[in-house]
Amino acid sequence: RPVGVRWREEVRRLVKRRDAVVLAHNYQLPEIQDVADFTGDSLALSRIAAGSNASTTVFCGVHFMAETAKLLAPDKTVLIPDARAGCSLADSITAEQLRDWKAQHPTAAVVSYVNTTADVKAETDICCTSSNAVDVIASIPPHQDILFCPDKFLGAHVRRETGRTNIRVWDGECHVHAGINGAELNQRVSANPGAELFVHPECGCATSALYLAGEGILPPEQVNILSTGDMVRRARSTRASTVLVATEIGMLHQLRKVAPDVDFRPVNDEASCRYMKMITPAALLRSLREGTDEVRIDPRIAARARESVQRMIRIGE
Ligand code: 13P
Ligand code: SF4
Repeated sequence: RPVGVRWREEVRRLVKRRDAVVLAHNYQLPEIQDVADFTGDSLALSRIAAGSNASTTVFCGVHFMAETAKLLAPDKTVLIPDARAGCSLADSITAEQLRDWKAQHPTAAVVSYVNTTADVKAETDICCTSSNAVDVIASIPPHQDILFCPDKFLGAHVRRETGRTNIRVWDGECHVHAGINGAELNQRVSANPGAELFVHPECGCATSALYLAGEGILPPEQVNILSTGDMVRRARSTRASTVLVATEIGMLHQLRKVAPDVDFRPVNDEASCRYMKMITPAALLRSLREGTDEVRIDPRIAARARESVQRMIRIGE
């Protein structure tokens, strides 16, 4: 494998030559996270992509993330080292399905998770990520109905957090997070008394985690439903000696880096996203050498999709 000091130096040399910035999502391979200029969650990386001065953004993540970076900075070159890096959650709704759903509820506002294609974003009023979903919902008048897509677990989370009953949720899921289930969580919790929980809201076990807190089985302050970026922030301040982490296992690298004294244990150690792992060290090198794979979006779709992302970005500014 082309990883080592020479690989790293070559990557950094090419980054400079291309006037590029390398962004890596928290689920990327450790060597990719370590060579990147910035590692973070999807909202943080979108913001960095929008504000960067570099002429090229190399997005080490999945395709919808690179597409979002292109929407926010249309004049820049955006590269993804392997354009086949898709997302099962983004695949769970098409623009046509969303148009049909909207036709059934014509007065509803459409909130889409950023884990969607540009075509779906073009049919969306406002996007959200796992770190701002509750704030995005709060920006919509309480009486207005909402269509939320595509993730049913994040949808259930925002319904719970906001207490709103007028949110309809699409029946989509991410195959990795849906696979981290309540039975597994309960078993890990019994085996690790006193451990804190970090749970991504896309997980199948998010409801079980809140049940543990609600029923007094765990103290509520031990149960945290967090985006990947918020997990890193919480890791810096936690007092727990052991933390059970329910999300894609790439996350463990950043957590262990920022809090080396804490024992972070995955709830499901097979929760690996094969799409995220398509961004290999060799693919990154090829991307920088050859300028591949360039992200392009039909300008008519891009203009409409951009608005839904920009509305999201403005929240919390
Ligand atoms: P975050 O926004 O929490 O990084 O989650 C994105 C995600 O699930 C990518 O797979
Ligand atoms: Fe998509 Fe799930 Fe992979 Fe995230 S972990 S990129 S939501 S398939």
